[in-house]
Amino acid sequence: MKRELYLLVTFLVNVQPLVEFTNIKCDAVDPNFCNFEYCYLKSVNRTYKYYSLKANLFKIPVTKIKVNFAIYKFANGYKPFLYNVTVDGCKFLRNPKSNPIAGYVYGFFKDRSNVNHSCPYDHDIVMDKLSTQFFNDRVTKILPFPEGKYLFQMNWMASNTIRAVFKLYIQKS
Ligand SMILES: *[C@@H]1O[C@H](CO)[C@@H](O)[C@H](O)[C@H]1NC(C)=O
Ligand SMILES: *[C@@H]1O[C@H](CO)[C@@H](O)[C@H](O)[C@H]1NC(C)=O
Ligand SMILES: *[C@@H]1O[C@H](CO)[C@@H](O)[C@H](O)[C@H]1NC(C)=O
Repeated sequence: MKRELYLLVTFLVNVQPLVEFTNIKCDAVDPNFCNFEYCYLKSVNRTYKYYSLKANLFKIPVTKIKVNFAIYKFANGYKPFLYNVTVDGCKFLRNPKSNPIAGYVYGFFKDRSNVNHSCPYDHDIVMDKLSTQFFNDRVTKILPFPEGKYLFQMNWMASNTIRAVFKLYIQKS
């Protein structure tokens, strides 16, 4: 994992930093497991744009969850880009340093979300005002990505079945 991360950093080039969210989609595949009370992008002004979401969980307490996340880059359709990783969510949250790639992804939302503790989850999941500014800093300074259109997708799975899908479309120029 460490070596992969190193290769990724070496492979990618740093360009003019600008990250835009272009769309967000939340899909409760299994309405018995959860629904999304809200899930939206908001542009306050030219420089301040954010997304927020709230998922209501119906099968609480959640003690087992698998998270499969992947990055896609647009080139005649969205093509897999570098990662398609599945982590045992509860195991990872007990020790976020155990997986550097999942840890990098987790770093995007942990400070603005009530996901920031270990299992069980017995409450709704909130992500509050995740701004492009914050993404910009992480995407350009911590791990530089080349320009282009990206899709970040997360599949939330319980008992090996997809229960919810989260998609964030990003434009980096
Ligand atoms: C955009 O809105 C934010 C939050 O209201 C504010 O702090 C910032 O100054 C605004 N920026 C511009 C360019 O108006
Ligand atoms: C990861 O790859 C599998 C197999 O191709 C695919 O079914 C799954 O949707 C991908 N995961 C994400 C989050 O896109
Ligand atoms: C999680 O975030 C909330 C605010 O969003 C904060 O009050 C709480 O202390 C954080 N918990 C941990 C374990 O970091």
